[in-house]
Amino acid sequence: MARLVTEWVNVKGDISIIARESGEVWFHAPGGTEENVDPFAIPMTGMGSAGSTIGLLDGAINLGFAGIEKRLARPDPTIAGYIVALAGAYHTSVDTPRNLRRAASRFKELGRPEVAAYLEERAREETGHDRLALKDLRALGVPGERLVANFIPEGIKPLCKRFDDLCIQDYPMGCIGYSYCLERIAALKQETDIEKVQTMCPDDVDATRFLRSHSSLGSEATHVEETIEFVASLPANDRIRVVQETYESALILAEGYNHELLKSEAEMLEELEQALGEALPYRHSSYTLHGEKRGARPAA
Ligand SMILES: [Fe+2]
Ligand SMILES: [Fe+2]
Repeated sequence: MARLVTEWVNVKGDISIIARESGEVWFHAPGGTEENVDPFAIPMTGMGSAGSTIGLLDGAINLGFAGIEKRLARPDPTIAGYIVALAGAYHTSVDTPRNLRRAASRFKELGRPEVAAYLEERAREETGHDRLALKDLRALGVPGERLVANFIPEGIKPLCKRFDDLCIQDYPMGCIGYSYCLERIAALKQETDIEKVQTMCPDDVDATRFLRSHSSLGSEATHVEETIEFVASLPANDRIRVVQETYESALILAEGYNHELLKSEAEMLEELEQALGEALPYRHSSYTLHGEKRGARPAA
């Protein structure tokens, strides 16, 4: 019987992730004694497998989020919060095709046509996603172009910068880890999450195009599966790089999202209205939901 593949990656000084093809995952503190050599103290060099790669990648995301678990904001959804999220979605999508193509041409120069082809395919698939967010904003009566021209949610800025920086590196393998992190988290969204947003929006308004496409119902689930297969096929040093960046991106994403979620509805409204130079069509005290007036925090 063939031996199961075991993969491991040191993501920060005192923590490595170990994953087996069977799906088991451990967090491991590297170290050994004179009698016992730690086999995971040196970087892995073997082949990958889809089962172990998914364990490493998702382990990296879990570890990135673990640091904020106790501080995690869990606000009730509001229209203001959703508009902020759509502005963030626009900014994390608008440069994606250009950035991925830049990384792809670098891999062509490096004699890695298979990585270039994978990134070009991703760039094609991600094209137009920024426009979904703009359409959703418009559906809510918000002048989307004006809003995004004047407003990037504070917590989203470091994330956008990270992706820009990764894609112009001499060896831009990390951009795959960043993309995996964002897509994997999006793919966790279920139909009920979309229904919650729809309940919050006025009747006859379809403002969930971006959300649907970036959820388990849309293309994100397939993107995640394809990325796992692709990463598993890479040489060990590339898999290590991708997993390390998945962890770094998860840290940035967790902090950034939490920063936004911790804001009060009044703060968000203030920011949005300042960027727009006018009042939003939906203020907490005045918007109508399914024919009746509701309070500031619609029930989830
Ligand atoms: Fe997308
Ligand atoms: Fe995607």
